[in-house]
Amino acid sequence: MVDIHCHILHGVDDGSGDMTDSLEMAQLATGNGTKAIFATPHCNMPHYFENFWSTQLEQKLSDFQRKLDGRGVKLKVYSGQEIYLEEGFLQLLRRNELITLNRSRYALVELDFYERADEAYKKISALVSEGYVPIVAHPERYAFVAEDKYAAAKLRQLGALLQINSGSISGDFGTKPKRSAESILKNQLADFVASDAHSQYSRTPDLSQAHEFVCENFSYEYADLLFGINPKRVINNDEIQ
Ligand SMILES: [Fe+2]
Repeated sequence: MVDIHCHILHGVDDGSGDMTDSLEMAQLATGNGTKAIFATPHCNMPHYFENFWSTQLEQKLSDFQRKLDGRGVKLKVYSGQEIYLEEGFLQLLRRNELITLNRSRYALVELDFYERADEAYKKISALVSEGYVPIVAHPERYAFVAEDKYAAAKLRQLGALLQINSGSISGDFGTKPKRSAESILKNQLADFVASDAHSQYSRTPDLSQAHEFVCENFSYEYADLLFGINPKRVINNDEIQ
């Protein structure tokens, strides 16, 4: 499995606090079948996490990979960001102050949990017209998606892909996101399931239960697509239909 959304890089946001946390998260992930992870710190969140891409972040990522390799932890870490779609995101992307997943066409993006639907659609369309493929992080957690059964399909029609959180499937965020995640999965609108892990204790990078859920309730092929095939296409910047 490849996890395209994980707050495993330490000391940059509300995810991993230090290198020990990051290493423990990595061990938990590999122990449960994850071979590669995209480190996706929150960014472009005014007053909270700016994390504009920098040589320091690049360095932090390679230091982490070196540490993993040195300890024999078989995990490949790719660069990325979870881009908060606050004003100015297009200019920041053009200037490489915000980056896509492994510098591919795929940008992992998040919205305000109470974003208005029309605003969300406008932002997604702006990214698509600029040539990016937005991957909407945890659509099931947004009010406009949970409240409108056509919203997930609309996002995909506009050119976005959808990434469900493993924690939503297990009910960690309550019944509404769980129901919404299941409906997106059932309607074959999901493109990825990722951990959005923040720690080794809660909201962890263990994807095994979510993988099992998709296998048991849908199919092994669907699980393979969401946890393996599509994430690998992102790594290689290959097209996702
Ligand atoms: Fe996240």
